[in-house]
Amino acid sequence: MSDTPENSPADVSSTARCWALIPCAGSGSRAGLDHPKQYQSLAGRPMVLHTLAAFAAVRRISGILVVVAAGDSFFSIHKGDYRVADCGGATRAESVANGLNILREQGASGSDWVLVHDAARCLITPAQINLLMDACAADPVGGLLALPLADTLKCVLDARVMATLQRHDKWLAQTPQMFRIDLLRRALGHAGPEMTDESSAVESIGLQPLVVNGSAQNFKVTYPEDFALAQALLQGRSAGGDDSDNRWTTVGEGR
Ligand code: CTP
Ligand code: MG
Repeated sequence: MSDTPENSPADVSSTARCWALIPCAGSGSRAGLDHPKQYQSLAGRPMVLHTLAAFAAVRRISGILVVVAAGDSFFSIHKGDYRVADCGGATRAESVANGLNILREQGASGSDWVLVHDAARCLITPAQINLLMDACAADPVGGLLALPLADTLKCVLDARVMATLQRHDKWLAQTPQMFRIDLLRRALGHAGPEMTDESSAVESIGLQPLVVNGSAQNFKVTYPEDFALAQALLQGRSAGGDDSDNRWTTVGEGR
C-alpha cells in the first residue's frame, strides 16, 4: 500500500496542536449503579473530574472537549477548563466520531492530534499522557498506551477452558490513544460504530499504531468492585503516598 497523506512522514508537523477528547456519554451498565459511573464520587469528587484534572495539568494540550449524552446536565454545575458537547452517540465510537466533528467545527485542523481518553479511566496521570505525546509526536500513524498481559490467557466456553493462547505478544489496550483528527475520522467512518477503541479503527484502514507502555493503575472502572480500588489509589495519591507526578488537584486553572 502506498503511503496515504496521513501516513507520510512529511505530514508530521511540529506546529500541529494537540486536543483531548473525553467520551463521557456511557450509562455504565456493568457498574451496577443507578447513575452513570463517571459521576460516582471517588475520593471526594466525581470520577470524571479526576480524569479531567490530569489532562488540565498537561499544558501543551490546546483544549479539552467532553462528550456527554443529550440532556446530561452534570457539567452545568461542574464548570472548568474544558468544553462540553451533548453529542453522545449510541456507542463509544459514535460519541468519539461526533466529538471529532465538533473539534473540527470549533477550529481544530484535520492534521492536529487528538488524545481520546475514557472518562472512566480516572487514574490516568499527566506523566503517562506526556509519555504518549512524546512517543507519538514524530510518528506517522500515532499510538496508544497499552499493558503487556501478565496472566495466562484462556478461551472459555460454558465455563470450560477450550484453549490456552500464547500471551507473549498480547497487550491490553488502554487510553489515551493519540491520532491525527482527520485520519481518525476517516478510520472511524470505515470501521463503523462497534469499534471499542480508536486503534481498532485505525488498524482497519491498514495502519499499525505505536504501542507505548502504560500503567496497571490506568484501568477502566467497569465493575462494582473497581470503585473501591480506584478510590484507594486516588486517596493514596492525595495523601502523598505517590507524589511522582500527582501534584495536580485543580480543574479549571488557565493553561
Ligand atoms: N462512552 C460514550 N458513549 C457511549 C458509550 C460509552 O461516551 N455510547 C464512554 C463512557 O462514558 C466511558 C468510555 O466511553 O467513559 C468507555 O466506555 P465503557 O467503560 O464501556 O463505559 P460504559 O459504556 O458507560 O459502560 P458499560 O459498557 O458497562 O455500559
Ligand atoms: Mg460500554
